[in-house]
Amino acid sequence: MVTTELNLDYLSPEFLENPYPTFAKLRAESPVVWDSKFHTGFSSGVGAWHIFKYADIQSILRDRQISSEMPPLELERYPAEAREIISQLFSITQKSILFSDPPKHTRLRSLVSKTFTTQIIEGMGLQIQENVNSLLDNWQNTQEIEFIENFAEILPVNVLSDLIGFPRKDYETINNWVKNEVEFLGGSPVSLELMYQSRTEFLNYIQEQILQHRQHLRKDLLSDLIMAQEEGYYLSDEELQGMIWLLLNAGYETTVNAIGNSIFLLLKYPEQLKLLRENLSLVETAVEETLRYEAPVQFIHRLAKNDFELQGNLIKAGQDIYAWLASANHDPDQFSESESLNITRPNNQHFGFGTGIHLCLGAALARLQIKISIKSILQRFPEFHLRTGGYKGKPSAIARGLKYLWLVF
Ligand code: HEM
Repeated sequence: MVTTELNLDYLSPEFLENPYPTFAKLRAESPVVWDSKFHTGFSSGVGAWHIFKYADIQSILRDRQISSEMPPLELERYPAEAREIISQLFSITQKSILFSDPPKHTRLRSLVSKTFTTQIIEGMGLQIQENVNSLLDNWQNTQEIEFIENFAEILPVNVLSDLIGFPRKDYETINNWVKNEVEFLGGSPVSLELMYQSRTEFLNYIQEQILQHRQHLRKDLLSDLIMAQEEGYYLSDEELQGMIWLLLNAGYETTVNAIGNSIFLLLKYPEQLKLLRENLSLVETAVEETLRYEAPVQFIHRLAKNDFELQGNLIKAGQDIYAWLASANHDPDQFSESESLNITRPNNQHFGFGTGIHLCLGAALARLQIKISIKSILQRFPEFHLRTGGYKGKPSAIARGLKYLWLVF
């Protein structure tokens, strides 16, 4: 039985500026709620369940009966001339690791995990530090800097391009493709034609890179993925394409936003910044707390495979479910003083990277980049503050991050 209807304008400036009072009200009054209008690039139908409490989200994300697959495409819902484009757009998404269940997920995850191990990622620390140092060198004689464009957007691009093995010069173009993808997948209004063109160019580019790497293997992740095998099984070209497409989508804007959010939060809560400056060994718990407080991925999608009941609501097989990680991260039943930023917070089991079998594969890489960034900035610049009115959030329901952030030295 559907008890309540969620009536939320996800893109309203008030909600985007501060969604947390709305989440608090929803957790208290309607923690599981239906929205008949909501749809994103993950769902083919219109209408979905939204879940806001930590415990409910945890049980959904760890439940093998709940699927990560996308629902079958209902092409008849779309105008005839758009159907070809729609089915093409869904094709790669449907095949990627993020949208697959076991046993396919287990096989893909095991192959990619071989190349994406913690040791390899930790070994990138020096490279990340060099990147950060050279970016900060450029700030030396400036009195003001726009942080997102001049730092947060550059570091993950350089790191990912070096890791995967794509030329850095191509990343401005890749960045534009990824931005379109994030908006489309997150449910923002994006022209289908533009999306189709962007996706086609993006996939062609990846395919071209796969061909070049196959001809000439190097020391990079794409070459390792080409060579990775388990029991004689290799990734097909299509699977490789899906994997690289996902790594670029999942690993780029999330990290840009996480780096921007972390610096912004420290400036917004000066007593926490002071604490960190006095004791830089708190940087690791500080990173976790900023990821809890402003989750770069606000919600994730799941699909009900069977009927089940949640908080008195009947969720039917085939219905879309959105788990609001950002709300779970502020749930007072899980986090004491959940609305306060506390960089020393112990046992911070936030859902910034999700949980369960799809737990973020790039978490270690993202954490390393945020940690080195914060530490180096604080060490190099003993004093800086936020320019009055010098920030603006991105107009996206799914990706929480800043469009710009002006720092004054
Ligand atoms: C702060 C930055 C990041 C955040 C907040 C983040 C967040 C997430 C979340 C919430 C999930 C779970 C999705 C789900 O369960 O449906 C996820 C999965 C994933 N992430 Fe990240 N991510 C970040 C950085 C990265 C990076 C740097 C990479 C790789 C270069 C990456 C690659 C992936 C992949 C491949 C998955 C899918 C794993 C699977 O399906 O088994 N992420 N990420």
